[in-house]
Order: sequence, then structure tokens, then C-alpha cells
Amino acid sequence: MPAPLAARLRATAQQLADAGVPDPGVDAELLLGHVLGLGRGELQAAVIRGQEISDADAERLDALVARRAAREPLQHLTGVAPFRHLELAVGPGVFVPRPETEAVVQFAIDALIENPAPAPVAVDLGTGSGAIALAMATEVPYARVYAVERSADAYAWASRNTADADNLTLVHGDLATAFDELRGAVDVVISNPPYVPDDAVPRDPEVRMHDPAQALYGGPDGLDVVRVISRRAQELLRPGGLLVLEHGELQGADIRALLAADGWRAPATHEDLTRRDRATTALRP
Ligand SMILES: C[S@@+](CC[C@H](N)C(=O)[O-])C[C@H]1O[C@@H](n2cnc3c(N)ncnc32)[C@H](O)[C@@H]1O
Repeated sequence: MPAPLAARLRATAQQLADAGVPDPGVDAELLLGHVLGLGRGELQAAVIRGQEISDADAERLDALVARRAAREPLQHLTGVAPFRHLELAVGPGVFVPRPETEAVVQFAIDALIENPAPAPVAVDLGTGSGAIALAMATEVPYARVYAVERSADAYAWASRNTADADNLTLVHGDLATAFDELRGAVDVVISNPPYVPDDAVPRDPEVRMHDPAQALYGGPDGLDVVRVISRRAQELLRPGGLLVLEHGELQGADIRALLAADGWRAPATHEDLTRRDRATTALRP
């Protein structure tokens, strides 16, 4: 029998809260909206109008709520992750893009916009879903963007997400060696590399159980991939080119020291909106 949406929304939020889901009210709205084909605002309006949910939709919702209560990431259930102005297809095998990264990309986009070259060049090392690369390619449409991903599963998601971007070249390979043809010609290198220390297993089940290990862990101190990027970015960037690295909140000082030891100019760490160290930039000498 059709039931009022409002009651169903409350019950769903409670079920998710009982399962320890961090934002149960938001997730309940997004899951119900997903089932009904409505955005969050549209769903809220439907609730206010006293709309009902059919038995078939209620059944679909039950299945999704059970999976979310078992801590499958919301984005795997809806199949999409918002990122800046984009909606990226995501699912098992690819790192779900995070809100923090939206702000990190701004350093790269600003540098591309400020660059007087008619077609500035950017490289995204370890592109995952393609989030960073596609944001740069669409927000600076005259830039030429290159992205590399080593995981076959993640590469397939990135391929799907970036298929329509004519100014973006995606390759399946290793960031340590990719794009030899661009040596000395790149204006911006950006990366959100794996940076979690091997023994710092994340607490959130969504991350621990569903983000791929090769997207998370970066060796004993979390900086193994950063060391590789520091060397590779020096080869790729032109003198004066910008390196942008996302990292964990406690890694800023170590990364500045590592970059300074490798000869980078002006390493600087930047806070995110919660005042946590989140990104370090440096210039190629
Ligand atoms: C933390 S995820 C970031 C993904 C995406 N850039 C984002 O911000 O959402 C790191 C990504 O780097 C990839 N990766 C790790 N080591 C790599 C390597 N040596 N070469 C290429 N990609 C690598 C992982 O597979 C993963 O997709």
C-alpha cells in the first residue's frame, strides 16, 4: 500500500542512524531521491506536498538502505559522486572523489588561468575517477590536460568519465614513467596520491572496505608515492611550473622538507576549510 514519503524518510534516517552512518538524514534524502529520480530539493518539496511512495519504490529503497546500513558508500549505491560542477560515475574499484579535493584543484586551475600561454599544459598523476583532470579540462577548456592511472578498474571509470573531453588525454600506466613526451613542457602537475601510512587503517568502513588499497596506502610513512612524484614532476615541469599535492593533515611539514631536499622552490602548505593542512604547492627551480 502506498505510504507517505515523510514517514518513510524519517524511518530511513533512523535506520541509517542506528547503523552508525555519519549523516543519516542527508543519506536518507539522497537514497529516496535516487529511487524516485528526484534531486534533494525536489524530494523535500514532494515531502511537503504530502506525496506517497509506491510499494515497488519502497522495495527498491529497502534494498539500498540495507546496503547503506552495511556501510557501502552512498556514491556506490547512487552510482555518482558530485565533484565541483561535475557528476562522476563511480563504483567498486575506484576511489570516491572527496570534497576536500575540490579545493585542492583550485590551485591548479588558478595557475592555468593565470598562465598567458594559449594552451597551458596540466598533468594529473593517479587520476582515479578522473575527477581532478576533468575539472581542469572543463573549467579551463583551452588547457591541454593529461592524466594517468595504474589500476585497470579505476582506469575504466576514468575512461567513461572523460570520454567527451577533447582536451584530455588519459593513459593507463605508471605515474613514475608516464608522459615522457611532455618532459620540460608542463605548466602544472597535480596529484592526490595514496598517502595513508600502511599501519593507519582508516576508521570509516566505507573507506577501509570500499576504497581500493592502492588508492589509499603510501608505504610506512605514507609518502612513498610523494617521493616518486617529486622526482617525476621535476622532469615534467618547465622551470617555474607548479606542483600541487594533496596530503593528510599531519604531513605538511614532512612534505615541505622532502620537496626542499629535492630542490623545489617555495614549498608552501595550505589549509582546507576546516583549517587542516591539506595541500602543499612548490615551484620547479
Ligand atoms: C587517492 S586516489 C585519488 C584519485 C583521484 N585523483 C581523486 O582525487 O579522486 C590515488 C589514485 O592514484 C592511483 N595510483 C597509485 N599509484 C599509482 C601509480 N604508481 N601510477 C598511477 N596511478 C597510481 C590509484 O590507483 C588511485 O586511483
